[in-house]
Amino acid sequence: MECEIIPMTLEHLSNIDSILISEFDSFWSSSILKEELQNPNSKYFVAINNSKILGFGGIWKAVDDCHVTDIVVKKDCRRLGIGSKILEKLIQVAKQTNLGSITLEVNINNIPAQKLYNKYGFKALGVRKKYYNNTDDAIVMTLYFK
Ligand SMILES: CC(C)(COP(=O)(O)OP(=O)(O)OC[C@H]1O[C@@H](n2cnc3c(N)ncnc32)[C@H](O)[C@@H]1OP(=O)(O)O)[C@@H](O)C(=O)NCCC(=O)NCCS
Repeated sequence: MECEIIPMTLEHLSNIDSILISEFDSFWSSSILKEELQNPNSKYFVAINNSKILGFGGIWKAVDDCHVTDIVVKKDCRRLGIGSKILEKLIQVAKQTNLGSITLEVNINNIPAQKLYNKYGFKALGVRKKYYNNTDDAIVMTLYFK
C-alpha cells in the first residue's frame, strides 16, 4: 500500500492516542512514546496515507549500535508492505549513524515479526530468557552493515 514514512511528531501521537491499544496492539504506552519523542537519541517515524497513520516505528542510538524499540502496523493494514517500509527507514537511519549494526528483541512466539526481520537479513544471535512479562523468551536479532 502507498504510504509516506515521515518523522513522528507530538501531533501524530495525539492523533493515535485513543486508538493505540485497540488498533495497534503496541506495548509502548503513549506516555512513553511522548518521552521518546523528546529523547535526542531516539528517532521515530510514522507511515502515513491520506493523513491517516497506519503504523510507526523507532530506534535508539545506543553506545555501540542502534536498537529498534518498536515497529507496529495498524491491525487492519497488515500484510500490505507497511512494516517493511518502516523497517527500511529505520535501517537507512541506522546506517547513517555509522554504528555498524542494528539490533532488536522479538518475542519467540511472534513469527510474523521474525519473518519480517529475516527478510531484511537480521540474524538471531541469542535468547533473553523470560524477557516479556517474565514469561516469554526474546530472540535477539542483529543486522550488521559492515
Ligand atoms: C510485524 C508487523 C510490524 C509486520 O508488519 P506488516 O506491515 O504486516 O509487514 P509486511 O506486510 O511489510 O510484511 C513483510 C514480511 O513480513 C513477513 N510477515 C508479515 N506478517 C506475516 C504473517 N502474518 N505471517 C507470516 N509472515 C508475515 C513476511 O515475510 C512478509 O513478507 P511477504 O509479504 O513478502 O511474505 C505487524 O505484524 C505488526 O504490527 N505486528 C504487531 C506488533 C509487533 O509484533 N511488532 C514487532 C515487535 S518486535
